[in-house]
This record gives sequence, C-alpha cells and structure tokens, in this order.
Amino acid sequence: MNVHSIQHSVQSQLFASLAAYLQDLQESGVDGIPPEMTLAAGAEAPLQRPAPTERNPVETVAADLPNTPEKHETLEQIRKDLGACQRCKLGATRKNLVFGTGNPQARLVFVGEGPGADEDAQGEPFVGDAGKMLNRIIAAMGLKREDVYICNVVKCRPPKNRPPESDEVSACFPFLLRQLLSIKPEVIVALGSSATQALLQTKVPISKVRGKFHDFHGMPLMPTYHPSYLLRTGGNSDSFWSVWDDMTQVLQLLRLPVPEKSRKK
Ligand code: URA
Repeated sequence: MNVHSIQHSVQSQLFASLAAYLQDLQESGVDGIPPEMTLAAGAEAPLQRPAPTERNPVETVAADLPNTPEKHETLEQIRKDLGACQRCKLGATRKNLVFGTGNPQARLVFVGEGPGADEDAQGEPFVGDAGKMLNRIIAAMGLKREDVYICNVVKCRPPKNRPPESDEVSACFPFLLRQLLSIKPEVIVALGSSATQALLQTKVPISKVRGKFHDFHGMPLMPTYHPSYLLRTGGNSDSFWSVWDDMTQVLQLLRLPVPEKSRKK
C-alpha cells in the first residue's frame, strides 16, 4: 500500500466512525450539539436534572420505555425486594450485598463488574483502588461522585475477584435493569468487559465496542475500559486516553463542558 491509499483508508475509517457516531446520537434523540460547550453563567449545577416538563425530551424517552411496569418504583423498593439475597451462589460467601450508591436522579450512571474485597467489606461500590481511579475520572469530568450513580453487574463479591459467571449475572441482572429503569439516566457508562457484555448481551471484546454509543432500553450506553485495567496499564497510557475520549463524548451528550484542565494537550 502506498502513502495515498493508506491516507484514503484512514480517512474512510474516520468518516465511517463519525457517521456511525452521528447516527447513534440521532437515534438516541440528540438533534444537535451546542456550538459552545460551556454552561451559561448562573446555570444550575451540571447534574441537576430539570423538573420534568412536556418539552423535556429525556422524560419523554423514559416515559415511552416499552413494557416497563416497574418504571415508577424507587431504588428503596428494589433494595427491599432483594432482601438477604441468596438467588445465586455468591450469596453464600459475601460479607455485604453491594447495591449501588449515589444520586437516584442521576443523569449519569457507571456500571462496573462486581464488588472486590474492599467493596464487600464496606457494602459500597468502587471504594478500593479501582474506585480511586474511577473517582479521578469523575473529577476530571468536572463532576462529583455524589452527582452520579455507581453500581455493578453483580451485587456480591465473586470469590478471588474472578469475573462473575453467567448464572450469577442472570440472577442479578433483573435487579440492575430495574435500578437503571428507576433512575432513567441520560447516559450509562459500562466499565469493562463484564458490564459491557452483560448490558449489551454480546461477546464482542470491549476494544471493539468502546468509543461509541449503544442503545440500552432507550438509554445511550457508552462502553469503556475498566478502571482496574487503567491501573494495570499506567496513568498516561493509550487506554487512559481512550477512556478520556469516551468520557468526552459522554459530557458532550450530556451538554456539559469538558473541563479545560482535563483536555489532552
Ligand atoms: N470493580 C468493580 O467492577 N466494581 C467495584 O465495585 C469495585 C471494583
């Protein structure tokens, strides 16, 4: 291949991914990206959801979710339903069931794989080393942990931190779905392979699906690398910048500014 054909092929790939991205945005109800990505002075706190109105497209999409009899239930009701869950074998070995934490009205939800030792001990998701990395990502987005909601595909720690098995994911998934339908976020971020594969019902590797929005029950879902993977690959690695590119798209879809200090130099 000569230089021109390589350039041409790179250009075609760029156009194809741009077209797919724009189509995904359009399908998820976005009809334009504002030219200025900064909030007007005096605007509301970035992740405060506006009161539902007839003209609020996000509420309209959520109200139209198909066959969702649970759509008005609260997170407390779902937690109560779980009780002292023993629906799968993880129930026997956990210390604490890790339901999820954060703003029940969050516009943005992060879904991880499952609790590790720290989370199992404290009953809260992402409080160990991976949690510190997730906190850095959230802060780099100009957000606070309490603005968003954080949960996992499975609510109980898999022994030795192995990935959850398919029977465990199947037992827990209905509760995760109910949590997501209750919160109705404007964007879901799936952290890593387990979350992405469970939510998108796919076996395709994360590297192939990250970087563009997918549909999850009418909610745009962005798969990205897991914070633990970033810890393994280093703070300034390609994977780190890939996550940052993905989070930039998330901020744009939420019409939130990309903080100047976090921009790639
Ligand atoms: N990794 C996860 O996927 N979830 C947690 O809660 C902690 C680590």
